[in-house]
Amino acid sequence: MKTQVCIIGGGPSGLLLSQLLDRKGIDSIVLERKTKDYVLGRIRAGILEHGMVELMREAGVSERMDRESFIHDGTVISYGDEQFGINFKELTDTTVVVYGQTEVTRDLYEAREKAGGKIVFNVESVVINGADTDAPFVTYTVDGEQQRIDCDYVAGCDGFHGVSRQTIPLDVRREYEKVYPFGWLGILSETPPVHEELIYASSERGFALCSMRNENLSRYYIQCSLSDKPEDWTDEAFWQELKRRIPKEAADRLVTGPSIEKSIAPLRSFVTEPMRWGRLFLCGDAAHIVPPTGAKGLNTAASDIHYLYHGLVQFYADGNTEGLDTYSGKALARIWKAERFSWWMTSLLHRFPDQSEFDLKMQQAEIAFLRSNHAAQVAMAENYVGLPY
Ligand code: APR
Ligand code: PHB
Repeated sequence: MKTQVCIIGGGPSGLLLSQLLDRKGIDSIVLERKTKDYVLGRIRAGILEHGMVELMREAGVSERMDRESFIHDGTVISYGDEQFGINFKELTDTTVVVYGQTEVTRDLYEAREKAGGKIVFNVESVVINGADTDAPFVTYTVDGEQQRIDCDYVAGCDGFHGVSRQTIPLDVRREYEKVYPFGWLGILSETPPVHEELIYASSERGFALCSMRNENLSRYYIQCSLSDKPEDWTDEAFWQELKRRIPKEAADRLVTGPSIEKSIAPLRSFVTEPMRWGRLFLCGDAAHIVPPTGAKGLNTAASDIHYLYHGLVQFYADGNTEGLDTYSGKALARIWKAERFSWWMTSLLHRFPDQSEFDLKMQQAEIAFLRSNHAAQVAMAENYVGLPY
């Protein structure tokens, strides 16, 4: 088989790239290791920056998002029973959109299917060959048969555990990582959200987050120990612990119910450099991971896709490789700022096992500064709604 861009990974990054390219007449094939149902079973954050919303529109997949999503003008930060708002709209004249990543992925799959896009599921043994030559090709097996795709470029959109990053030789690749000493236990429940905005809560017992998907679907998280297992936590124990970590007036209003999903995610910051090796380009989780505090995962993937898409369109228009040549530098410049913001929010709001009394005072002083200082609020709001591309 032959295509212009071979895309490894059918998560949101790969699908969005494939859909955007298709609309410019650029051919791609997506190779996905799992099934579509498996990919759509993964539950991830639900906050879209303006840039991601614009990309969905440009990709022609925004119809349901524009109809069903919720615009959030701000967020709430609490510590103990104290709380204050950060009003993004007033501070930056920008808002964020609440629309689950699962829904984004569903809409993208639907659009690719409608357009007759080529997606091969259940691929195994994917190998990217000759990425540092002018004639790369990808081999894989499906249903026990080996296949080969010759292409101009390879987009590595295969997430943190994919093969694309590993294809870049160790003497070229440099990795930066921070693993946090806790996880997030999250549940989804068919209950009305406790508040119209998200509440990021710092408490003596650890961090908690009240988020949502729609009027009757809530997403809540509590900081937990890395040794915890989801099955250790009954729904009742989860709700009790959540109530202890959010302001009393919110806890009194909280509507509880059975969880329909419960899982634990570890927290990690990770970046690999460079994001390009020859004709292979890394995008999204294949190149970087953020802790979920601040919801930058999908949004950082979106800026990568934006830069790569424009680079490819430029190349196929007139052979100009400038956009592709500057891809890694431009993508990384924005990624590192999102990494800093996610690390900052994580450090500000969580309890760390080795935290001293002094460290605690520093956290409290920083929260108090944020509460009272306009410039600090602007800085937070600008980062939360998304830095410019
Ligand atoms: N071959 C083909 N597909 C693969 C391979 C492989 N060797 N390895 C992994 N994949 C697939 C995975 O099954 C997954 O569907 O690549 C896809 C990668 O999707 P994601 O992990 O969702 O990564 P990405 O598309 O970059 O999305 C970024 O997802 O993890 C969140 O926080 C992250 O929200 C962000 C978004
Ligand atoms: C979510 O809704 O799942 C969510 C929202 C905001 C975050 C993280 C997760 O910072």
